[in-house]
Amino acid sequence: MNHLPLIGRQQARLRRYQRICELAAVKPGDRVLDVGCGNGASFEAFNSENEIVGLDLLPEPTIRQENFRYVQGDARDMSCFADGEFDVAVAVGLLEHIPPEDLETVANEIRRVARRYALVIPHIWTLIEPHYRLPLWQFYPHGVKSFLVSHFSIGPYPKSPSGEYRYLNYFTPGRWRTLFPGSRTAVHNHVGWLVRDLVIYDGPADRSAGTAEASTGAAA
Ligand SMILES: C[S@@+](CC[C@H](N)C(=O)[O-])C[C@H]1O[C@@H](n2cnc3c(N)ncnc32)[C@H](O)[C@@H]1O
Repeated sequence: MNHLPLIGRQQARLRRYQRICELAAVKPGDRVLDVGCGNGASFEAFNSENEIVGLDLLPEPTIRQENFRYVQGDARDMSCFADGEFDVAVAVGLLEHIPPEDLETVANEIRRVARRYALVIPHIWTLIEPHYRLPLWQFYPHGVKSFLVSHFSIGPYPKSPSGEYRYLNYFTPGRWRTLFPGSRTAVHNHVGWLVRDLVIYDGPADRSAGTAEASTGAAA
């Protein structure tokens, strides 16, 4: 939400970072993998104490700090990492961009390389869709989305005369959990009740804490 004042935006990100750490029980000394790390605005910006490896498709690292190492790669194939190499995997704003046919592969890779994880995506019931920044964009029919993007620049996206818009995965929490057997989900209000996230996590965090929604059964 770029129209939020900078300080408000940082505070919202800090609160979300703290929630991630709580749900995945990130402790000093844990090795963390940030899948789709981007420019580090959601995780690295707040962490100087853990050893962090960031994986992204970007050709060059955009994060430079002592506790960080960049690996260029694709979340669909993390064969450069051993089974259980990381204590924790995090991913903020990645899974909604993965083509649906690849989601299971990415989920399996995350679960293979890390013992615990906390993965943040926009909640299907977010009032403001955080990419297009319009109310309930995720539910608009294809024709409406196509019409709007071909006539207006929306959010950060320039007008698209072809009517093409960015596909985003918006699934129910239950459907996300089936991709991550044994996971739980929690709602996180990123910008009050306007922008809501879903956190898929597997860690020893207390189930009664926060606003945990449900579990697929197998407890961590
Ligand atoms: C919306 S950005 C989020 C960046 C960062 N996590 C944050 O919260 O600021 C999504 C990032 O995922 C990366 N990404 C998308 N598909 C990927 C894939 N298959 N493997 C690795 N990274 C990917 C993109 O390059 C981009 O940097």
